[in-house]
Amino acid sequence: MNIGIAGTGYVGLVTGVCLSEAGHHVTCLDVSPEKIALMKSGKSPIYEPGLEEMMQRNQAAGRLTFTTEKTEAYRGKDILFIAVGTPEGENGHADLSFVKKVAEEIGDTIQDDAIVVTKSTVPVGTNDQVEAIIRERAASNIQVHAVSNPEFLREGNAIHDSFHGDRIVIGGHHQPAVDKVAECFSSFGIPIVKTDTKSAELIKYASNAFLATKISFINEIANICELTGANVEEVAEGMGLDKRIGSQFLKAGIGFGGSCFPKDTKALTTMSAEAGYEFRMLNAVLEVNELQHNKLLEKADAENAIEKGVKAAVLGLAFKPNTDDTRESPAIRLIEELQNRGADIIAYDPIATEKMKEVFPDLTYTDSLETALQDAETAFIITDWAQIKETDPSYFKEKMKRPVIFDGRNCFTVSDMKKHGIDYHSIGRG
Ligand SMILES: NC(=O)c1ccc[n+]([C@@H]2O[C@H](COP(=O)([O-])OP(=O)(O)OC[C@H]3O[C@@H](n4cnc5c(N)ncnc54)[C@H](O)[C@@H]3O)[C@@H](O)[C@H]2O)c1
Repeated sequence: MNIGIAGTGYVGLVTGVCLSEAGHHVTCLDVSPEKIALMKSGKSPIYEPGLEEMMQRNQAAGRLTFTTEKTEAYRGKDILFIAVGTPEGENGHADLSFVKKVAEEIGDTIQDDAIVVTKSTVPVGTNDQVEAIIRERAASNIQVHAVSNPEFLREGNAIHDSFHGDRIVIGGHHQPAVDKVAECFSSFGIPIVKTDTKSAELIKYASNAFLATKISFINEIANICELTGANVEEVAEGMGLDKRIGSQFLKAGIGFGGSCFPKDTKALTTMSAEAGYEFRMLNAVLEVNELQHNKLLEKADAENAIEKGVKAAVLGLAFKPNTDDTRESPAIRLIEELQNRGADIIAYDPIATEKMKEVFPDLTYTDSLETALQDAETAFIITDWAQIKETDPSYFKEKMKRPVIFDGRNCFTVSDMKKHGIDYHSIGRG
């Protein structure tokens, strides 16, 4: 099929690359000329394992092109995908301005009937709005069908998830359009759930909110463990063996971040409130997460570990490993608080330092763990990168001036760290 995609971020670019890998001809559009120029030269603007190689292969095969020209991306295509951002807007609403702009641009550009698929995470009813906007602006003889196809990929595993995801959800009210979108993904061999538009839109929010709930739940259990002497890892293992519960997303830590869970849980509470329903449990999930982001700081304060001028290493800036995405990373709050307390901060991440420079341009950064740890008086582990969690505990002892570690991801066993003489504080393990 001939496919056009609006937006070449984490979702749009991965979708474009994977659809071209599946044999489709894909044209990716972005408003950023810098990004398009970079991709034309074979470089990915985001870090995602395996993405750049697959992108180059499909560019060379002539199945994948990049453009800033709307006519090139939107005309003569079997399917158009919208994959632009829907960041947190006012009062927790999803900001739909980018999606609506794309809908206007599609309406102004198309000359033939169009199937327009929204991959962006959007509140219930948005696809109907997208369809109405396009219809209003396109010529009256043009048929437009909006289809919802929310994305479930995980950053850091995006290529794998695109080809081996648990399900593909396709929602729409025009069956031939839904079938056409299903056909586009048919070679992926992933179970396809066909449903109505509104249910598809809500499946995405409900899924993210449920996962966020699991995280806040286990974090509260971790807090109870700290007060009672139980060990959250043992508790999670014992719980997770029950198939009704499942073992995934039961890892205690300093809370969820990233560009999806925080904004999507907020958007769902807002959406619910506007529909006349108070989503009490989800409000609590968000509150618990806020408190959890402060956990390491509370522990450090209890130990008087952050005096003015103390050399503090922040280990990991990305909101999770294998991505350069720092949006809503717990590292942001921690760095702000360390700055407020006058700490001498050095921030380490193997990949994400450039993205964090957009938030803290004047911070000292390094992509060397050794440089970060050298003479540090305290270290905060924020991201469980392999480079961090596979470090031998003796290395911390050897490099740091004062081996005091606050680990927000439980990367090490308490007994190992103790054996190496490290003053080690983690989550929910006494
Ligand atoms: N990042 C994830 O892991 C993930 C997973 C599932 C769903 N989602 C959802 O997918 C959507 C996209 O997320 P993302 O992380 O890829 O966003 P992103 O911010 O990384 O990328 C959005 C891209 O759209 C481009 N853009 C903006 N306006 C445009 C326009 N008019 N025409 C063409 N391009 C335009 C931007 O320049 C940017 O490159 C969001 O709704 C998000 O919630 C994200």
